[in-house]
Amino acid sequence: MNEFNGKTAVVTGAASGIGFELAKVFAEQGMNVVLADIEQGKLDAAVESVKSIGAHAIGVLTDVGSGESVAALCQATIDRFGSVQVLCNNAGVYTGGHIWEQTEDDYEWLIRVNQWGIIHGLRNFVPQMIAQGDECHIVNTSSMASMCTLPFAGIYHMTKHAALALSECLFHELAMVAPQINVSCLCPELVDTGIATSARNRPANLAEENITDMQTMSMTAITDATAESLSPRVLADRVLQAIKDNLFYILPPSGNPWRDTADTRLEDIRLLRNPTFAPPAI
Ligand SMILES: NC(=O)c1ccc[n+]([C@@H]2O[C@H](COP(=O)([O-])OP(=O)(O)OC[C@H]3O[C@@H](n4cnc5c(N)ncnc54)[C@H](O)[C@@H]3O)[C@@H](O)[C@H]2O)c1
Repeated sequence: MNEFNGKTAVVTGAASGIGFELAKVFAEQGMNVVLADIEQGKLDAAVESVKSIGAHAIGVLTDVGSGESVAALCQATIDRFGSVQVLCNNAGVYTGGHIWEQTEDDYEWLIRVNQWGIIHGLRNFVPQMIAQGDECHIVNTSSMASMCTLPFAGIYHMTKHAALALSECLFHELAMVAPQINVSCLCPELVDTGIATSARNRPANLAEENITDMQTMSMTAITDATAESLSPRVLADRVLQAIKDNLFYILPPSGNPWRDTADTRLEDIRLLRNPTFAPPAI
């Protein structure tokens, strides 16, 4: 897709981090922007900021883990702008710790946001895009965590592997039945966002945590690592370029240590070698 002016983009998780930068990048292209997030105060501020670029923008309070909520987001988009050409299923959350010590609520929360969030986005917006018949682009945010497996973040890795797998399947299906709809999967390395404080949006009914030494260590590690990492603007620019170039895999550039870690895992599988512990040298 190369024509953006006057078209409409929907971004989930748009109140903060990568999603907020995506909303701004689309606004700079002259698109109408629908910002969806579960955090009302930050969402309102993000909408004002996007409007100040000169774009038509609305904020829709959305829980991507709820099918009803995402259906309402889709309806609000059509009511306000009539159609939708870009969808970024971007909202996501993180927690870490030993696989066997994390609670059922930990699993439920990450699966709801990181997997069901994308599923609800696709089930609601793809039929709308197919019915429109025009050129569209869907970007699902996964992670480099989808391309490797590291200890102490098992639930996150599991949900991000699922996001990548579903995106690849979607790519094949749309290529067969609606080739005017393109697909990308965003797999960022570490980015300086609010991801380490994801628990700020943890729903009360999934509140049970087991604060173990390993969970504390994992959360400290992600806090430190993201604080010294890339600006989310870099990721938003990468996404825009990938939409223009119709690239599926949006990865860090070759030579990035996360690419080496991913390559090692692929090589393990290819050679039937047991998993190598090869964290990125960052
Ligand atoms: N920051 C990183 O290092 C990194 C690396 C790889 C992938 N990612 C992925 O990038 C995406 C964006 O995260 P970020 O790093 O910008 O973090 P962030 O916390 O800054 O932004 C995530 C946004 O999602 C929103 N959100 C959380 N739960 C929600 C729900 N149920 N419904 C709607 N919105 C919800 C939050 O309010 C927040 O605004 C996530 O999918 C994350 O997994 C981040």
